[in-house]
Amino acid sequence: MTNGQKQKKPDPCSFVIFGVTGDLTHRLIIPALYNLAASDLLPDKFCVVGVARKRMTNDELTDSLLKGLKQFATRRVDDAIARRLLECVTAIEADPSDPASFDAMRERLDKLEAKRETGGNRLFYLATPPSGFLPISQQLARTGMFTENGAWRRLVIEKPFGTDLKSAKALNAALLKLVDEHQIYRIDHYLGKETVQNILVLRFANGMFEPIWNRYHIDHVQITVDEKLGVGHRGSFYDSTGALRDMVPNHLFQLLSLVAMEPPARFDAHAVRTEKGEVLSAIQIQSEEEALRNSVRGQYVTGRIGDVEIEDYRKTPEVRLDSTTETYAALRLVIDNWRWAGVPFYLRTGKALGVKRTEIAIKFKQAPFAMFRDMAVDQLSQNYLVISTEPAEGIDLQFNTKVPGPAIDIEGVEMKFRYKDYFKAEPSTGYETLIYDCMIGDNILFQRADSVEAGWQAVQPFLDAWKKAGARGLKTYRAGSEGPEEAEALLTRDGRSWRKLA
Ligand code: BG6
Repeated sequence: MTNGQKQKKPDPCSFVIFGVTGDLTHRLIIPALYNLAASDLLPDKFCVVGVARKRMTNDELTDSLLKGLKQFATRRVDDAIARRLLECVTAIEADPSDPASFDAMRERLDKLEAKRETGGNRLFYLATPPSGFLPISQQLARTGMFTENGAWRRLVIEKPFGTDLKSAKALNAALLKLVDEHQIYRIDHYLGKETVQNILVLRFANGMFEPIWNRYHIDHVQITVDEKLGVGHRGSFYDSTGALRDMVPNHLFQLLSLVAMEPPARFDAHAVRTEKGEVLSAIQIQSEEEALRNSVRGQYVTGRIGDVEIEDYRKTPEVRLDSTTETYAALRLVIDNWRWAGVPFYLRTGKALGVKRTEIAIKFKQAPFAMFRDMAVDQLSQNYLVISTEPAEGIDLQFNTKVPGPAIDIEGVEMKFRYKDYFKAEPSTGYETLIYDCMIGDNILFQRADSVEAGWQAVQPFLDAWKKAGARGLKTYRAGSEGPEEAEALLTRDGRSWRKLA
């Protein structure tokens, strides 16, 4: 996300993927590399090394990657570009439980890189389950593969970064013994979305928002990430995770921190990440009683989404029949700083809901009614600025306007900006920017250890309180609905209401 330098080609490097046979590699990483290749944004000297535990030939690997590319590409696949990309791929076998395999890998990498003239720059992408992060990193460190000796070495990992505050701290501490913070790129794919990156530009490249971006003008903020999909084949992972862990300390907090952070002094990674970390650590840490009062958790039961009948969450394969895991979470948070004192942030996210919608809605304070005192207050529509990525990327502004005619009738209208109407960008996976940034060494869009820990710290009271309460307090909601009815009360008791999701 570097200032206007997007067209620069990255340094020569090797792109080493652990977990090359997995879903993430096929669905997102290779299609993103393909899109970068198609935009001529891969290094001139480049190689992709696919690491798997089991031996496989280059042909087996490239056949499988090509199949994935054809299935998941976001644009038409040009055979010549795909061939050029896949020609760069080499399969290597390495298993962290067999240290000798990493010694052998190091030798093969050295030889391959000499041939490909990549200059020793290496990006290690751990597209593996989190249980692989440490064992793989330990072997990479032991064999000296993280050592930066005139060449750069980077480590890319995907969420989850821990499962609570304690495990996140332990993971960060263990990783930082092996590799330096500046080498670690913690990916949150929400930061690959255009509209999410655009929050920074909207706020800080326009003079008109900042003066009203505070408690004097903003009544509250609603952050919604609603999904139609149920849990599907991820029962085992999801049942030990739940909506809160899966979405809040990472994706929803990325949105919250970009909306709520103070203006950074410079547009560089250190300044931006410091401000994001600051605002996350200003989220008030609630007691367990407060956490229960300020949250609603729910689990979906049988319902319909369109024509599709969705079964009870508890009937999902590999989900416990008496599971109390939440598939919906709503929280009321407060940020303890001068800008946001008294401005609640309401967050909600859930699976198997009636619509897919991701939005940040900023509700401005009501106008004083002196001029229109004969109108019922509730007839004036609310002033919202809505930044959305789903169902369409864009920004909406809602305001009141006079209905044409002799009488003063007032109606709420919307001004809509849609990315696709203004810009003719090719559809992307959302990973292109992130992967490109890793290669050029720009970590502005990646999470630093302090932000990860601040995020877990804010959700920890909810995790603890919900664990203790078990089935007590777990609400149900019909698949295809807007979530548990009780979520409404979280706002109505403050005299507010959630935006209705059309
Ligand atoms: C992932 C979660 O990180 O994000 C999934 O593990 C969720 O459960 C997904 O579905 C949502 O991403 P998006 O981009 O579809 O909003």
